[in-house]
Amino acid sequence: MQNQIKPFDYIVLGSGIAGLTFALKVAPRGRVAIITKKNRAESNTNYAQGGIAAVTSKEDSVEMHVRDTLEAGAGLCKESVVRTIVQEGPARIAELIELGMKFSEREMTTSSGARELDLGKEGGHSKRRILHAKDVTGREIEKALLAAVAAQPHIEIFEDHLAIDLITTQKLGQPGPNRCVGVYVLDKKTEAVETFSAGAVLLATGGCGKVYLYTTNPDIATGDGVAMAYRAGAAVADMEFIQFHPTCLYHPKAKSFLISEAVRGEGGVLKSVEGVEFMNKAHPLKSLAPRDVVARAIDSEMKRSGADFVLLDITHKPAQFVMDRFPNIYKTCLQYGIDITKEPIPVVPAAHYQCGGVLTNVEGETDIAGLYAVGEVACTGLHGANRLASNSLLEALVCAHRAAQCVLSRTLLPEQTKIPGWQSGNATNPDEQVVISHNWDEIRRLMWDYVGIVRTNKRLQRARARIANLQEEIREYYWDFIVTSDLLELRNIATVAELIVASALQRPESRGLNFNLDYPNANPAWAQRDTVLRKS
Ligand code: FAD
Ligand code: SIN
Repeated sequence: MQNQIKPFDYIVLGSGIAGLTFALKVAPRGRVAIITKKNRAESNTNYAQGGIAAVTSKEDSVEMHVRDTLEAGAGLCKESVVRTIVQEGPARIAELIELGMKFSEREMTTSSGARELDLGKEGGHSKRRILHAKDVTGREIEKALLAAVAAQPHIEIFEDHLAIDLITTQKLGQPGPNRCVGVYVLDKKTEAVETFSAGAVLLATGGCGKVYLYTTNPDIATGDGVAMAYRAGAAVADMEFIQFHPTCLYHPKAKSFLISEAVRGEGGVLKSVEGVEFMNKAHPLKSLAPRDVVARAIDSEMKRSGADFVLLDITHKPAQFVMDRFPNIYKTCLQYGIDITKEPIPVVPAAHYQCGGVLTNVEGETDIAGLYAVGEVACTGLHGANRLASNSLLEALVCAHRAAQCVLSRTLLPEQTKIPGWQSGNATNPDEQVVISHNWDEIRRLMWDYVGIVRTNKRLQRARARIANLQEEIREYYWDFIVTSDLLELRNIATVAELIVASALQRPESRGLNFNLDYPNANPAWAQRDTVLRKS
C-alpha cells in the first residue's frame, strides 16, 4: 500500500491546555503537528469554570496548598510530585499572563484604587487561591494559548483529525526497547488514514467522562489517549479513581452543564428538595467538603428522598454579585427558566475527571521511549485518590513545561522512514450503524449503574462480564468495517471501561473516589499503592 508519511519533529495529540502549552515550548526547536479531533478550541479545557489553583496571596503558602492536596488525595498522592507542581505553579501562571491571559481582578481593600487578583475558593481548599476569569476561565485560557500558537510558524494544526493508534517499534517488529515513532490518524473529512512520524509524541488527549452516561465533559472526552497508550504497551495507573462533580445542572434539555464549585465557594449551600441543609452531617466543611465526600452525600440524599436531584441555593447573596461573578452560569440557567438569584438550582453529580491515566513521572515520560503524556490523560501522582478542585489546569501547565524541557534536553532520533501504511484489509462500509450506537449507550449506562459513585464487587463483576461481551462484538466490527470516528471512540470507551473496572476490582478497600460497600474502610496496606495495568 502506498504510504506518504507526514514527518514532523514533534507530534502533539490534543489542543487543550496541555497540548498547546507543550507545543508552544518546543516549537522554537522544530516542526510541530498538533492533531485534534474537532475544532481547535474543543476540549475539556474550554469548559473549565472555577479556575487554576496556585499560591499567589500573602495569606497562603506552598505548605498549605500541599497539605490541602494531600488531604483531598486520601493518602495516595506522591508528595514529591505535589510539592514540585505546587511550587512551580506561580511561575507557569506568570508565563500564561505574559501570553495574554486575563484573570479576574478586584480592587484592593487599601482604598488606593490599586487592583489585585480576585481569588476564588473551592472544596477542600483552606485558603482562597483559585485564579479565574469570572466563570469562563477555560475559554479564556484556550483563547490566549491559541492566539500564541497562531503566531508560531513552526506549528501546524490538523483539525478534525482523530488519532487512531500509536506506532511503536515493537508493533513494527523492530528489536530493542519499545519506542514510539508515530501515529495513525483518521482525517474525518476525507475518511483517509494518514501516517504521521516524529521523534517525540505527546499524548494530551484529556479525560474519559463520556464513558459514563451522565458527565460534565464535552463529546471529545472518550479516553482515547489512555486506550491508545494501553494498546501500545504503556502502563496505566489508578483508573478506578473517577471523580464525580457534585453539581451538574439537572434539566431534561441541559447537556452536561456544570455549576461550578466556586458557587459554593461564594456561599452556595446544598439543600434537600425539602429545602433542608444536609452537608453538616457529612463533613465539617459542609458544602465545601472535598468532592468525593459531597458527591457521596448527594447520592445518599437522593436515595433517601427518592428525588432526582438536590438543590444548590445562592439566593441569599446579592443578585448583582451573583450575576457579575457567574455570568455564564446565570445566563445558561436563565435559558432553562431558572433565575439563580431568585430560586435554588436543581443539581446532580456527574462523571467529571479521570484522576488516573497513563503512568508518567513529573516530566510526562511514560515507560515507552519517545512517548510523553501530560494533563488529564496522565497519572503523575498529584491527585492520588481524589483530585483537589482546580489542581488539574495547574498540573497540565507545570507538566507541559517540564515535558518540553525534558524533550528539548534529549537528542531526537531521526524519524523512521519505513512505516507501513494503515491496513484496512477487506473492510467495507458498515451496514448497521445501530450496532455502534447501541453499544455506546450500553457501555455508558452500565458504567453509570454499576461502576458509579458507590460500587460493590458484584456490580463490578457484572460490569466486567458485559464489557467483555461488548468488546468481542466491537472487535469483529473493527476488523470487518472501514473505521469511522464513532467506531474508534466506541473501541476506546470500551477499553477505558474495562480498565476502570479492572482497577476497581484490584483495590480491596474504599479510598477517596473508589467507594466499595464490600470494603467500606480504607486499608492501610493499600495506602501509597497504585493499581497499575499493562497489556499482557
Ligand atoms: P483537554 O483540554 O480535554 O484537551 C484534550 C484534547 O485532545 C482536545 O483537543 C481533544 O479534541 C483532543 N483529543 C482527544 N482524543 C483525541 C484523538 N483521538 N485524536 C485527536 N485529538 C484528540 N479543572 C481545573 O483545574 N479547574 C477548573 O475550573 C475546571 N473546570 C472544569 C469544568 C468542566 C465542565 C470540565 C469538563 C472540566 C473542568 N476541569 C477543571 C478539568 C480540566 O478542564 C481538565 O482536566 C483539563 O482542561 C484537561 O486539559 P488537557 O489539555 O489534558 O485535555
Ligand atoms: C468547577 O468549577 O467546579 C470545576 C473545578 C474543577 O473541576 O477543578
